Amino acid sequence: MQKKEIILTGIKPTGMPHLGNLIGAIMPMIKLANAAPAGQSFAFIADLHALNAVTDRHEIATHVREIAAVYLALGLDAEHTIFFRQSDVPEVYALNTFLMNVTPKGLMNRAHSYKAAVDRNTAAGADTDAGVNMGLYTYPVLMAADILLYGTDIVPVGSDQKQHVEFARDIAGYFNNIYGDVFKLPTPSIRAETGLIAGLDGRKMSKSYGNQIPIFDEPAELKKKIMRIITDSKLPEEPKNPDVSTIFQLYTHFADAAAVKDLRARFESGGMGYGDAKKILFEAVNDYLSAPRERYKELLSAPDKIDAILAHGAERARAAAAPILDKVKKVMLG
Ligand code: ADP
Ligand code: TRP
Repeated sequence: MQKKEIILTGIKPTGMPHLGNLIGAIMPMIKLANAAPAGQSFAFIADLHALNAVTDRHEIATHVREIAAVYLALGLDAEHTIFFRQSDVPEVYALNTFLMNVTPKGLMNRAHSYKAAVDRNTAAGADTDAGVNMGLYTYPVLMAADILLYGTDIVPVGSDQKQHVEFARDIAGYFNNIYGDVFKLPTPSIRAETGLIAGLDGRKMSKSYGNQIPIFDEPAELKKKIMRIITDSKLPEEPKNPDVSTIFQLYTHFADAAAVKDLRARFESGGMGYGDAKKILFEAVNDYLSAPRERYKELLSAPDKIDAILAHGAERARAAAAPILDKVKKVMLG
């Protein structure tokens, strides 16, 4: 019999992801979700978690649809994976309330998200808790509710979220100690951070550096950005080292093995300028992304369709959540 292992991850509803996010997080996550047995992977858009920082509902709703369209366009199968909007599953609000009572306040004091805010305040000479609302402070409890509500075993996340998943495991443990074996203990599965994708200026591609290439830029804009990737000043005829080149690094993720081997040879033998290498990279990235880009635009032009897909996911998520929430209520309140 196949082991029933549940995998789940939450996605922040932010603006357009970049090629670093695509290669480092989105594609690995879609592969994992599609590879899990049908109905045993959950992916949701964490709009409740956005509330501690964003007060404009239009902004949140827009980002929810955009990010849903991004994942669907890139191949997330919403029949296979239970794909939904966090706030469409009210069971999570209820579980959050229950979990609050087994979560030590001291645990929250240690949360990275909260500590980062405190550090910023301290550095600015402000009150320690300035601008910190309870949504931010108790962010890990809601995240534990997200995870524990579906009997999750594995939580694929970036390294910045590892502590939060460990907290979910701790909270499940505190609960089980008092009330018996109700929750499974989840384990984080941390994405490799080796081979971080470089941005236009050679540093790690990141929104915070403004050096990113958004995944669904139109071809003209995509080309313009790729042409701006910084290089050294080697002349066209000189041999070049592909292993220190942002152009080559990106190419390896968008071209097949034979094409990669070919470009490596052209770098090493000399005779190709960086401008030409960039044009080759542009063609590969654009070929890879042009069909998803069209699907993305099509989806966004039919927001009702996105909403219906997410609503269908929420129905399935609620059905999975109900027995666990019932059990929690029973063991806590009778
Ligand atoms: P940003 O630095 O642009 O704000 P995020 O922190 O939102 O990006 O990244 C979300 C996830 O995307 C990270 O957990 C990581 O797995 C992946 N990621 C981000 N930047 C890169 C990059 N340059 N190369 C590879 N993966 C990345
Ligand atoms: N906190 C995660 C992030 O910032 C998003 C998230 C919310 C999440 N709930 C989750 C991730 C549950 C994994 C499991 O990226």
